[in-house]
Amino acid sequence: MSSSDPILGPILFLDDIRDGKMHLAALLIAPMGQKVPPVIVGDAPAEMVKLAEPAGKSIHRARFSVSLDQPSFYHWNGTDYALAGVPDGAGRLAFVSCNGEEHGDLDRDATERNAMWARLAAEHDEHPFSLILHGGDQVYADEATRGHPLSEDWPDRLPRDPSRADLASLRDHLRERFAERYITLYQAPEFAYIAARVPALMQWDDHDICDGWGSLQRSRTYSPVGQTLFEIAREAALLFQHGTVEGDLPARFRDPAGLHLGWSVSAPGLRILGPDLRSERTRREVMGKGGWQMMEDETRAASPGRTLVLSSVPLLGPRLSLLELLMVLTPRMQKYEDDLRDQWQSRAHRDSWLHMLELMARIADRADQQVTVLSGEIHLATRGEMSLPSGDTLHQLVASGISHRAPPKAWAKVLGALAMLGDSPLKGHSIRMARIPGQTQRYIAERNYLVLERKGEDWSAEWDFEAAGRSPALSL
Ligand SMILES: [Fe+2]
Repeated sequence: MSSSDPILGPILFLDDIRDGKMHLAALLIAPMGQKVPPVIVGDAPAEMVKLAEPAGKSIHRARFSVSLDQPSFYHWNGTDYALAGVPDGAGRLAFVSCNGEEHGDLDRDATERNAMWARLAAEHDEHPFSLILHGGDQVYADEATRGHPLSEDWPDRLPRDPSRADLASLRDHLRERFAERYITLYQAPEFAYIAARVPALMQWDDHDICDGWGSLQRSRTYSPVGQTLFEIAREAALLFQHGTVEGDLPARFRDPAGLHLGWSVSAPGLRILGPDLRSERTRREVMGKGGWQMMEDETRAASPGRTLVLSSVPLLGPRLSLLELLMVLTPRMQKYEDDLRDQWQSRAHRDSWLHMLELMARIADRADQQVTVLSGEIHLATRGEMSLPSGDTLHQLVASGISHRAPPKAWAKVLGALAMLGDSPLKGHSIRMARIPGQTQRYIAERNYLVLERKGEDWSAEWDFEAAGRSPALSL
């Protein structure tokens, strides 16, 4: 970006819903030293602050509020941007995940890479979205560790006792690399179009930090290099995924100190929960005390209508524990064992998994409440069902990825076969991996996104597949 480059943005985030209003943050990324025009709401400029100056850019944020349930607009730099709002008993939500790839993501052909974003943008023009939910891997930061002597061989080989000066240099290196990645992604016109018009809610997964974060050996996670990597990934996520900085978390976050980045927002008839499955994750625990406390509190509170739970890794899936056992017994398969540790279905997380499923059951226990889980992560589309003690069906909808290319179709078939082995973590309630309407396979190896539509109290879901096109609606 040179000083004559355009300013990137606005990128909208939903800070909170309160007092019948959507409280929004608009991020603007300018070449250093360039004046940033104000965001105008009504007749007044919104208050703007400079948040950070990474990678030669200055990053500004304006906070403002608009009506929750009525269409509205804001104005920036000569353009009026329409917002659909979240109307009571109506509206559409988009869900996406996995916006990138592990290797060479920044060098991909942009038209190919962003094809599904273009489709989402075109759909928004026809039928506007109220919100867009990003369910994890908003960025693939895996290559950020390259090019610095301390992290070059992360996570395989690490310096034992790096000096403070070397760690400071690593911090600078990572800060630049993370910023470059986010900025490259966010300046894609297909992404930018949606980002300026549909407020986003994001929850991170491992690649927003590094592959497998939280499931790696303690000697990696708790090393000085590992901790520095987490610190900078978190700083970048606060900035680029939440439009904020340390000490200034919007009200939707449950822990103002941000030890975990779990959040919740509620509108009439709709609650969206975004538990953070990464910040407190260890090889034994999926969340820590704070993360679980948030879920306990939320599931005890009354919230009539639909609760959508973002679980970055799928909560309902095939029985993976057998596969995992085989891998533990085969030393060459260690890397894959780490991958399986990332799943709720891992043997190591059986208690956590059960706990989360019980929390889902508790939400559905109230007659006027329903719950649906949204996930990404697997680069395939699928869905699962589990009956709950209340008699409700827990639907798990998986959409992944929006730009990550699908694995070979053969892998989708292997998973499909594995899915025949049902699992019943909650006694008497078996998990069933099911077919998306219009599909013959359980796992679909195509890029895709998900659209949720609300009509009165009824909700339905449709997948948009890159090749197969639109699925018929699944009523939830
Ligand atoms: Fe992913």
